[in-house]
Amino acid sequence: MKGKITIHREFSIGEVDKRIYGSFIEHLGRAVYQGIYEPGHLQSDELGFRKDVLELVRELDVPIVRYPGGNFVSGYNWEDGIGPVDKRPTRMDLAWMTLEPNRIGLNEFAEWARRANTEVMMAVNLGTRGPEAARNILEYSNISQGTYWSDLRRSHGYEKPHGIKLWCLGNEMDGPWQICRRTAEEYGRAACEAAKLMKWTDPSIELVACGSSNARMPTFGSWEETVLDHTYEHIDYVSLHIYFANTEGDTPNFLGRSLEMDSFIKTVAGICDYVKARKRSRKQVNLSFDEWNVWFHSRDQDKEIPQWIEAPPRLEDIYTMEDALVVGCMLITLLKNADRVKAACIAQLVNVIAPIMTEPGGTAWRQTIFYPFMHASRYGRGTALQVIFTGGKYDSKEYTDIPYLETVAVHHEEGGALSIFAVNRNLEEALDLEGEILGFEGYRLIEHITLNNLDLKAVNSARCQNVKPAVLTGGSFDNGKLSVRLPPASWNVLRLKQTASTNPRRGQEQSGQPF
Ligand code: AHR
Repeated sequence: MKGKITIHREFSIGEVDKRIYGSFIEHLGRAVYQGIYEPGHLQSDELGFRKDVLELVRELDVPIVRYPGGNFVSGYNWEDGIGPVDKRPTRMDLAWMTLEPNRIGLNEFAEWARRANTEVMMAVNLGTRGPEAARNILEYSNISQGTYWSDLRRSHGYEKPHGIKLWCLGNEMDGPWQICRRTAEEYGRAACEAAKLMKWTDPSIELVACGSSNARMPTFGSWEETVLDHTYEHIDYVSLHIYFANTEGDTPNFLGRSLEMDSFIKTVAGICDYVKARKRSRKQVNLSFDEWNVWFHSRDQDKEIPQWIEAPPRLEDIYTMEDALVVGCMLITLLKNADRVKAACIAQLVNVIAPIMTEPGGTAWRQTIFYPFMHASRYGRGTALQVIFTGGKYDSKEYTDIPYLETVAVHHEEGGALSIFAVNRNLEEALDLEGEILGFEGYRLIEHITLNNLDLKAVNSARCQNVKPAVLTGGSFDNGKLSVRLPPASWNVLRLKQTASTNPRRGQEQSGQPF
């Protein structure tokens, strides 16, 4: 199969907000206990955090981690997780029918985040609780001293405020599964009042209001409109969530699902702009895609898990090669919408539908989906550039005109780097790709990374990395002309770099900078 791409230095979509490479840790399954935290493990530090997990999280270079839920947050008393650990209560978590021992809470998680080189994106409970609890946790977290909650934090041994900047106003409040689900009117009012109190407490924070739990919810669209009608001037982002599964074993259709994600983003951005117009507002509300991934391999095994135990192995999806391709397409879709999507969280980070898995007492290992995420996070910072692809398309059960190539580019001007991310959706044929890359004189192709495996159901495990990246040779870039071969069913990163002689800033780059 043949195809062509055209890239121009000026075909800018927007600046990539690094927070689109965020992730998520919920008090769910083995994400916290036996995931990031396992005291007594040979690799644990003095606080019980697993250093091997911290290393993998740093390898992914995740700038924000949403916490503590998810569905969990809608029944959570944040005060249960502060103060002396031996005095903390064990609670029944009604979201996942497990026992929550509260050995990890806000302070410990903020400390873990520092060690992981990331920031906390905190969610407040707008299910069983409301504006009062929301403003209190913010005061405890962000005010330096001299007030009841800030001094309580200091008395707990955390002298400095945590300085958490991004806050979620609840989670999936439209979902019947949510603890204390609300109607759009009820949630819009509660979110508006919580937002007011929170911004009065700390005006430097940014707030995310709940959008629909997914685009197939019966109230999708009208939910966003009503919620934004109440909250527009008080919040900064509206959330989107999506999970895909290949339930029917139809891989071409599964690989087309990112088209649905793209249209979801454009629709929600449109609703934000519609409410903006109606309100004659000058403010733009952007998008936080704070849950996205492939899910549901674990659906049947989860039915066997007994209730009311601590940290059961729930939602432990083992990801395949084809899942990595879908994750790659989803990452590209986020980048293609970099003008509106300003934060995003792959859900989740460790053990629970996650790129990183741990064995209790054993190793931590990388799932197939770890790799596209790591590549995008490391090489996808800068300005997102539109890529025009001309080549084959196909139709599937649910989608039409799916291009065989899903692609986007990111230009890091200071680092003199251009990264082209590309998924060849053709399961049978390699794609011989020609490229016209305009405005990148003095660049050369330094690396073609690929992730592929002829067996689309291949998985990794604690013992075996069947799916891992390789470097391909044979590609070229001369006089603005790119020529590469993308293997069938593959994720690819084409890395172009400005040569020393044409980049006056070379030599000023910081060490460790991936570009
Ligand atoms: O990520 C798992 C769950 O998916 C989250 O708790 C919830 O918000 C969503 O439904």
